[in-house]
Amino acid sequence: MSLLNINPTSTASWKGLQDHFEEIKDVQMKSLFLEDSNRKKNMSRNFEDLNFDFSKNRMTKETMDLLLDLAKECKLDDAIAKYFEGDKINVTENRAVLHTALRNINNKPILVDGQDIMPEVHQTLEKIKGFTNQVVSGEFKGYSGKAFTDVVNIGIGGSDLGPNMVVEGLHYYKNHLKTHFVSNIDGDHVMEVIKELDPETTLFVIVSKTFTTQETLTNAETIKKWFLKSATEEDIQHNFVAVSTNLDKVKGFGIAEENIFTMWNWVGGRYSLWSAVGLSISLAVGFDNFKKFLDGAYAMDEHFKNTEFEDNIPVIMAVISIWYNNFFGSESEVVIPYTQYLEKLAPFLQQLSMESNGKSVDRNGDKVTYQTGNIIWGNSGTNVQHAFMQLVHQGTKLIPVDFIGFEESLYGNVDHHQKLMANFYAQAEALYAGKTAEEVHLDMKFTGDVQKINALLPFKVFDGNRPSNAFLMKKLSPRSLGALISSYEHKTFVQGIIWNIYSFDQFGVELGKELANKLLIK
Ligand code: F6P
Repeated sequence: MSLLNINPTSTASWKGLQDHFEEIKDVQMKSLFLEDSNRKKNMSRNFEDLNFDFSKNRMTKETMDLLLDLAKECKLDDAIAKYFEGDKINVTENRAVLHTALRNINNKPILVDGQDIMPEVHQTLEKIKGFTNQVVSGEFKGYSGKAFTDVVNIGIGGSDLGPNMVVEGLHYYKNHLKTHFVSNIDGDHVMEVIKELDPETTLFVIVSKTFTTQETLTNAETIKKWFLKSATEEDIQHNFVAVSTNLDKVKGFGIAEENIFTMWNWVGGRYSLWSAVGLSISLAVGFDNFKKFLDGAYAMDEHFKNTEFEDNIPVIMAVISIWYNNFFGSESEVVIPYTQYLEKLAPFLQQLSMESNGKSVDRNGDKVTYQTGNIIWGNSGTNVQHAFMQLVHQGTKLIPVDFIGFEESLYGNVDHHQKLMANFYAQAEALYAGKTAEEVHLDMKFTGDVQKINALLPFKVFDGNRPSNAFLMKKLSPRSLGALISSYEHKTFVQGIIWNIYSFDQFGVELGKELANKLLIK
């Protein structure tokens, strides 16, 4: 069964939110905290060791109730059931959307076209496990009989961003294998990666769901040519493996059948890091850690599927974002992890959210009359404080922030971590509280120069009342990262449901590809 088709602006709660917005749009968060001494507690939710604090938002309990009513009126519960049960909710491509099945550890069958897909999922996981163990132990060797030292992931979009982000995100858990990523069609990218590699000890993982992507195939061919300068066609089977749904094309490249890891058309590229697309993650951190990563995501799936909306973290994340996007007119959101390991989280979330929800036609095929997908951006704290945070603190735009922090550092450097986390808390506080003219005045009083104080005053004032969410976890681990990513996936899903769009196709990327091909033919 397909998704229902409900225009969110036709619901009573949307109208309620519009009226409510007029009442609340200028309310100061400071007064909301004064009115409710338990606001922080009331507007925080826990999941395992994650604390999600959404108290620093320009909303009240009434706002949240109306937003959750909107989710109910848009039949989010029906959509969640269809999503997990494998209904073909990717209507325009006539496909189910089952990345959740890739991390599913309960024994209930999940049917696609009447077939239980779970046995195949488990077989592929077993294959990933066996292959990872053989490569890491040195049992699976390169063509000249040497163990592998390097792994190159060749892919783009979902076949690059997720694995790349997680390999870097879990670098602390890494083994001896060095992992590299080639994605761009820019030939200098591939040359820079291969120039220092030894073909004898490098394993190439070609990742392409379709095995038709221009960038990936061009890079794979270039690497193959480079490889064949020191090896033979026969040797390809020792040093190249592939992840794809397109088995014929992979075999045509020269890859041995046993070195092909299958994936399925019910996994979207940007949701595929949990499948064999994550092979380079498993190779980098070992299968046990890869499994913990899947388990973390599964735990968040269960939370999302089974928790009432008012306590459901991805649902709350999604509706807060809708509140700013559709009522305050915010165009973008910024995501700032306070760990260098997650420097690549923002590019991953950009594809996840913007390729999913960057749509302007609703499920009827009509132009929408309201805003959909938001612009996602970000980078790691504290670096961003010396880059774009000026605009978030004092610019003209209202930009909600997600701050992501960890109680413990991985190497236990207490001094650094205390400073890092002081900044994590300080940024949210500065956005929330701002700095009034009186406070600036007090600060500058010691100068005794009244003229100078008055001249500088307007530039030193911070309006405050700028919203943020805070995600605080104990430490960055495969499990916590899995749960975090899963929560953003479900947030994206909920937003697509409420906006009444199809989140799982990506026709918008096609025209540019077609035109590039035409230009090449000329
Ligand atoms: O950018 C379009 C897209 O289809 C993405 O959705 C996908 O992640 C990427 O290209 C790569 O596709 P493939 O894995 O088929 O090479």
